[in-house]
Amino acid sequence: MQISNNTETLDFLDQVKTYFQTEKTLYGEDLYLDYDFQNLLRSESEKKRDVLLKLFFHVKECRNCDLAKSRKKFVFGSGNPSSRIMLIGEAPGANEDLQGKPFVGEAGKLLDKILAAIKLTRNDIFLTNILKCRPPQNRDPLPDEVVACESILLKQIEILKPEFILIVGRIAAHYLLKTTAPLRELRGKVVDVFNAKAIVTYHPSALLREPGLKRSAWEDVQLFQKLYEQG
Ligand code: URA
Repeated sequence: MQISNNTETLDFLDQVKTYFQTEKTLYGEDLYLDYDFQNLLRSESEKKRDVLLKLFFHVKECRNCDLAKSRKKFVFGSGNPSSRIMLIGEAPGANEDLQGKPFVGEAGKLLDKILAAIKLTRNDIFLTNILKCRPPQNRDPLPDEVVACESILLKQIEILKPEFILIVGRIAAHYLLKTTAPLRELRGKVVDVFNAKAIVTYHPSALLREPGLKRSAWEDVQLFQKLYEQG
């Protein structure tokens, strides 16, 4: 390559840097260099990665609702874009807002333990939330905010085509199942959501507040494990 214009080269390097920083935010430390250069055919998983990355760049400056004014970082989601499993939570909290990644606070630490108990890590699945920006003081998402944000989640589901979805918490369950029933009535059974088999369970923040719910959550995730191991 001939370097004719220094500014152009620096711009190009800047773009490469942004690309890899974004890859790291979305997919963690693993760098995927397994492109099939020989016949220029890309696998389904590589295509999913690319389409998801394009979606991220398309929506990361979203200003569809007022949460854009108070957010520090847009929290798109992270994990393995080729996974058959998606986990959908509520909305970023303070830590997620700072780091731009879902479930990195106290609830996230508990979630990691729950996943480990069913032989999963966050790199085996794709994690995201109903809302991509933090509501002030972690209040419940407003109906308008959910509507403003829903096209991003729907697009993510369309791209990832998950076979199994773990729905954590009331907000995600109510939105995805189009119900207002109490969570205790929604958990513990397999439901169909967007052509995926889904299970609702308690949000890890609820488990931190009310440890008595852990037993039911354990039953839910064991059922989820059975589902994806058999599926
Ligand atoms: N709670 C959620 O529902 N999602 C996060 O990303 C963090 C906390």
